[in-house]
Amino acid sequence: MRTIAVINQKGGCGKTTVSINLASSLAVRGKRTLLVDMDPQSHSAVGLAVPEEQIELAIYDSLLSASRKEKIDLSEILWQISDNFELAPSNIDLAAFEQQMAGVVGRENCLRDVLATVSDDYDYCIIDCPPSVGLLTFNAIKSSQDVIVPVETGYFSLHGLSKQLETLTVLSNQCEQPINVMVLASMYDVRTKMSREVLAELRKHFGSKMFQTVINFNTKLKEAASLGQPITEYEPSSKGSRDFLSLADELISTDTLTHRKEMVSSLSRQLEAIGNNARGILGDISLNRQQQSQEKTKEEVSERILDKVEEKIERYYGVRQQGNIVSFTALYPNARKVQIAGDFNHWQPENTIMEKISNDGAWQIKLNLAPGKYRYRLVVDGKWQQDPYNEDVEMNPYGDYNSLLTVG
Ligand SMILES: Nc1ncnc2c1ncn2[C@@H]1O[C@H](COP(=O)(O)OP(=O)(O)O)[C@@H](O)[C@H]1O
Ligand SMILES: [Mg+2]
Repeated sequence: MRTIAVINQKGGCGKTTVSINLASSLAVRGKRTLLVDMDPQSHSAVGLAVPEEQIELAIYDSLLSASRKEKIDLSEILWQISDNFELAPSNIDLAAFEQQMAGVVGRENCLRDVLATVSDDYDYCIIDCPPSVGLLTFNAIKSSQDVIVPVETGYFSLHGLSKQLETLTVLSNQCEQPINVMVLASMYDVRTKMSREVLAELRKHFGSKMFQTVINFNTKLKEAASLGQPITEYEPSSKGSRDFLSLADELISTDTLTHRKEMVSSLSRQLEAIGNNARGILGDISLNRQQQSQEKTKEEVSERILDKVEEKIERYYGVRQQGNIVSFTALYPNARKVQIAGDFNHWQPENTIMEKISNDGAWQIKLNLAPGKYRYRLVVDGKWQQDPYNEDVEMNPYGDYNSLLTVG
């Protein structure tokens, strides 16, 4: 069983959404999947229409059963959600866990011991964590081989991130097992400059520690949760559903990862880099604040500083036209192959391969295009996607976005 904890101290960044929908997508792919809710707010149960008032036994009871000498098997608390998909729900009792276990030896290994009893029954276990780094989250980390950190692609989430990841790294280093920590961009909205800028920063700093898959902002995900269904059931053809199936596939493709130790140590170096960067930007903000005669909101001030960064990004990435020559430039530090497909090449990317033009992972291609309006998508290691640096998009019949380009 491969156990994956979904962690971020920040509330509302998409942990529960990722946990529920990743678990259901793994189940759709035929993987026997267990979702464990370690948040006393029991949002996983709410999001899967498990009636809270009918949860008599929850993960809290299993966690405590060893220290109380009254056995409650995990199987006694499980709810079947769909084929291959079961939920170990939480309830408010879990809020008392940390206090109750104070001073108890081995209190950080309760979840690991419970999960060990079912390790042959599942292929994957996903753990939805509370928005804090306390004993509950530490239990989750001690049980896991992987940690997913969902990061909202907004400016302020980038800031808190370096601190949080430092804490996570400290915790991971206290575990006997190597843990692979991966950042997942969530709530991405290609049409806002802010999202595109933050995604570029994340890619630059986290490199291979980031999933290629990006979870787009999709209102269907909200609707699905409010109706108590995973997106794969509520709207299997939606963008949200496709994003999560793609995330599941990306994870499945690393089932036999052999270099976890090395990945953990390289994370510390990357954290240092992003920490420095965040401090630099924050410094700029406070400097600017002092210069303001009028009180400005945080957002306004940071927008202006970001404008400078955006200018730089706009200069480098996206679509540029000089006469009939159109250059497409995009940043994909981890990609092995980036191609372009559009109506100008009959959507056949085979012969339009972008060239890697810098060590930090910028890819470019120049095409001679007659005046007209074109639609295109980028193909990154075989995955079709919209150009993240072009905000001119239209929905295609498959529910994805095509990028648009007008050659004048
Ligand atoms: N990709 C997304 N697109 C649209 N809404 C989202 C997305 N991810 C999360 N949300 C919504 O944002 C809110 C917070 O998400 P949630 O998963 O509960 O975060 P957390 O568990 O980290 O507190 C919820 O209302 C959820 O439906
Ligand atoms: Mg949650």
